[in-house]
Amino acid sequence: MTDLGIRAATSADSEFLVDMLVEAVNWLPERNWSREQILANPALAHYVSGWMQPNDFGLVAVDRADRSVGAAWFRYLNAADPGYGYVSDDVPELTIGVVETWRGRGVGRMLLRAVLDAARERGIRTVSLSVERANFAARLYAAEGFRTVESFEDADTMVAEIGT
Ligand SMILES: CC(C)(COP(=O)(O)OP(=O)(O)OC[C@H]1O[C@@H](n2cnc3c(N)ncnc32)[C@H](O)[C@@H]1OP(=O)(O)O)[C@@H](O)C(=O)NCCC(=O)NCCS
Repeated sequence: MTDLGIRAATSADSEFLVDMLVEAVNWLPERNWSREQILANPALAHYVSGWMQPNDFGLVAVDRADRSVGAAWFRYLNAADPGYGYVSDDVPELTIGVVETWRGRGVGRMLLRAVLDAARERGIRTVSLSVERANFAARLYAAEGFRTVESFEDADTMVAEIGT
């Protein structure tokens, strides 16, 4: 992990965030939705559309050659256009993805911890996410302080209280 850095996401990262959204949607390899399909689906595209908006924030993990290897970001969605992990208008929702070749090496946990710290520094007390229950990522989230607040057929909404 010493070879990796973390920096704040900027508007120049919009394409990479789309890449990571594609990875998050396709965590189940047989799903294999195309980038175009995902961007044409408003319930998915709204996690990245118009990045970055004034309240958006996130982090990008970069390798020694400054190539992006993962990203974790928060976006506020609202009751009129809720995300899968929507809790309330003032609770931002997390999206996270790591480039396939970098998975299982601690990048995701590092990004998750760092983006929760970034949220805390912004005075945010509660954050949410949605995860399909079969995704091992749900265990990562639970280990990092998220708890399930609502369950649907295949997915859970999880919340972390991060206020000090
Ligand atoms: C989920 C994801 C962000 C996690 O990032 P990562 O860098 O692979 O995860 P880490 O290496 O930090 O590992 C975190 C934990 O998950 C476990 N883990 C990692 N890969 C795993 C796998 N394929 N199966 C089961 N557990 C796994 C690790 O063992 C680790 O736990 P431990 O430290 O207790 O051993 C990344 O795998 C990913 O992008 N997956 C596809 C997209 C996705 O699912 N996004 C989330 C949608 S909700």
